[in-house]
Amino acid sequence: MSFRFARRALIHPLALCGLALLLVSGIGPAVMAAQAPAYESTPAGAKAARFVDALLGKMTLEEKLGQMSQIPLNQKEDVTPDERILKGQVGSFLFVTDAKEIDRLQHLAVERGPHHIPLIFGFDVIHGFRTIYPVPLALAASWDPAEAERVESMAAREASAVGVRWTFAPMVDIARDARWGRMMEGAGEDPYLGSRMAEAEVRGFQGAEIGSPNHILACVKHFAGYGAAEGGRDYDSVDLSDEQLWNVYLPPFEAAVDAGAGTVMSAYMDLNDVPATGNKFLLQDVLRDKWKFDGFVVSDWDSVLNLTTHGFAAGPEDAAVRAVNAGVDMEMTSHVMRDNLAEAVKQGLVKESTIDEAVRRILMMKYRLGLFEHPYADLSRVDAEEGSAAQHEAAKEAAERTAVLLRNEGGLLPLRGVKSIAVIGPLADSKPDTMGSWSLAGNVADTVTVLAGIRNRFGATATISSTEGVEIERGQPSIFDSQFPSPDPAPTTEAEREAEFRHAIDLVKQADVSVLVLGEAQNMSGERASRLSLTLPGKQEQLLEAAVATGKPVVLVLLNARPLNITWASTHVPAILDAWYPGTEGGNAIAALLAGDANPGGKLPVTWPRSVGQAPIYYAHNLTQIPHARDAMYWDGSSAPLYPFGYGLSYASFRLSNLRLSAVSVKAGGSLAVSVDVKNTGAVAGDEVMQIYTHQRSGSASRPVRELKGFRRVSFAPGEEKTVTLTLNTKELGFWSSATHRWSIEPGTFDLWVGTDSTATDHATFNVLP
Ligand code: NOJ
Repeated sequence: MSFRFARRALIHPLALCGLALLLVSGIGPAVMAAQAPAYESTPAGAKAARFVDALLGKMTLEEKLGQMSQIPLNQKEDVTPDERILKGQVGSFLFVTDAKEIDRLQHLAVERGPHHIPLIFGFDVIHGFRTIYPVPLALAASWDPAEAERVESMAAREASAVGVRWTFAPMVDIARDARWGRMMEGAGEDPYLGSRMAEAEVRGFQGAEIGSPNHILACVKHFAGYGAAEGGRDYDSVDLSDEQLWNVYLPPFEAAVDAGAGTVMSAYMDLNDVPATGNKFLLQDVLRDKWKFDGFVVSDWDSVLNLTTHGFAAGPEDAAVRAVNAGVDMEMTSHVMRDNLAEAVKQGLVKESTIDEAVRRILMMKYRLGLFEHPYADLSRVDAEEGSAAQHEAAKEAAERTAVLLRNEGGLLPLRGVKSIAVIGPLADSKPDTMGSWSLAGNVADTVTVLAGIRNRFGATATISSTEGVEIERGQPSIFDSQFPSPDPAPTTEAEREAEFRHAIDLVKQADVSVLVLGEAQNMSGERASRLSLTLPGKQEQLLEAAVATGKPVVLVLLNARPLNITWASTHVPAILDAWYPGTEGGNAIAALLAGDANPGGKLPVTWPRSVGQAPIYYAHNLTQIPHARDAMYWDGSSAPLYPFGYGLSYASFRLSNLRLSAVSVKAGGSLAVSVDVKNTGAVAGDEVMQIYTHQRSGSASRPVRELKGFRRVSFAPGEEKTVTLTLNTKELGFWSSATHRWSIEPGTFDLWVGTDSTATDHATFNVLP
């Protein structure tokens, strides 16, 4: 794959496939043209550029390389961080979250560092800072970009109060393989949903523009293709066709860049044999030349040095040269660029102008963030922001809006008139597991577990009993063990374990209803948390089956951030609520949902397999030789998903009718209004997510059987009926064709479905005209 190759393909004999191709623009949807970065053509941008260029003119090469270096505070080196600051050998720190320490280091840099250049403090503010919100996969399950924007904006408030001005988020990697633990950090399997979430999160972090008060700089990661790791093994190689790259994996990055993301992080792995951190095609040709990205690129942790580990660079010097020449501006944690690039410039391996460009991008971003004018955080904000009532309220609302109701036989939920509830399971009263992975600075103590939430909500009217029943732990240590060390298993002998199991089942027998809180501990999903199986870890399945065998009603509440094998539960447990890792207010939110104070309205952002053997599985597959036998592709079990993409129930029920399009034909580049009447036929208020899927019937290449092209979450009062109108922009129908090697909207007939998940049946057709 190369830029040259793609451009050569412009002369592909299109006539052969008998199609007129529209909106032709080389290798992707946007128009390629060399132009000045947009920001610099504004008066503020021109002023920033003058300031930065003057500053750059005064800096030595060593000082420039210092700006390109990011180090964690506790990194063991001969030179202390303070000395590095005084010598101008560092531009950024990561993982410093103490307000006073940030303030001290910033004073050192601004008052005594060369040229008084402020530092930029970065941290993984992934789903909250002190107050923890539902994990990103859950935010995608809200199918409400405004919710995701609100959450990241609240997270930015807390982080900026201490002086953290840069987050390494959003992660926009498409994930279609539930074995991959980092599925948790993104928006799931779909490029359209992923793009809407990516741009919303960027807006949430950064505000209206970079430098907005109480906001922070976003960093879109991991560029690019990381989610397609072979076998779902974290960090493993990625082999992606151009078609997959352009149509599936790149769109959320482009959306985030278009939304103004200030930084991008290069990925760890190799993409088609070229490590992403040394990949000029990605970092220069696509990101800067094509998408006009005007921010800076930071490597992932040690990923510059690791260009040698990949068998790509010959040694650390070569790694530094290759990374910077490919387009990396700042090196995270390893420091081969800082230590080798001066010599490389001397030897002519790297042009000094390349270094200047990198440093200029970094300084421009510091300037745009306002760091030169206001380098210090207003520490009086810390107490007011951290864990404020507004944060808790927003966290509860987010957890309520992200939960997905997977099953509710006989209307077991919401719970009514229960006099006793048994809250059972290893995750029922665990604060870290309610928060989820990547909550490194979160306030553990403030977290409300499911047990605590149920006590708060039902304690006055019902007796609440609780026990763990079984333990769960990882087979291998986690890289996050130092944050949340696994608790010592309480019952140590087999006899004690059996007694605990029996005790749990006794509580189930004694209660009117049981809530089993099962799933994965927080360190079982996230970075380096890939799995061989998707079963409920430990003996949770046995506990669940024994609880159901008592004949008493059981509600399964899942804490997780990947689909788990709940195939048995899906036909035997009457009510299943997927709460994901719901965060600080998770317990209160879950209790509100169980009580019916809130109504679940989330939808799955990933297809839910029946078995790990189905991975990778996604709804937007191509049609095959025997489409009618799609569900019987394995002789030893079904190949159908357990739950389709976009699926989720409500305590209300909805009826759709009268699907209509504003026209039967539309010119490429135009748009159609798609309307449907929706009625809440239930007795309670609720939300439904209207989803549009399309399929191109024929063309230069096969297109997926269905692709999401629009959605909206809408609230309805009981009995309310309204017309929901969504715009279908034909721009969304364009794709990169493996036959023509270009991006185009191809004229022809399209199917369209509207409904409440990816199996929607309300159907229409329309034609795209040349
Ligand atoms: C490595 C992870 O891959 C990346 O996502 C994260 O931002 C950095 N570490 C910093 O924590």
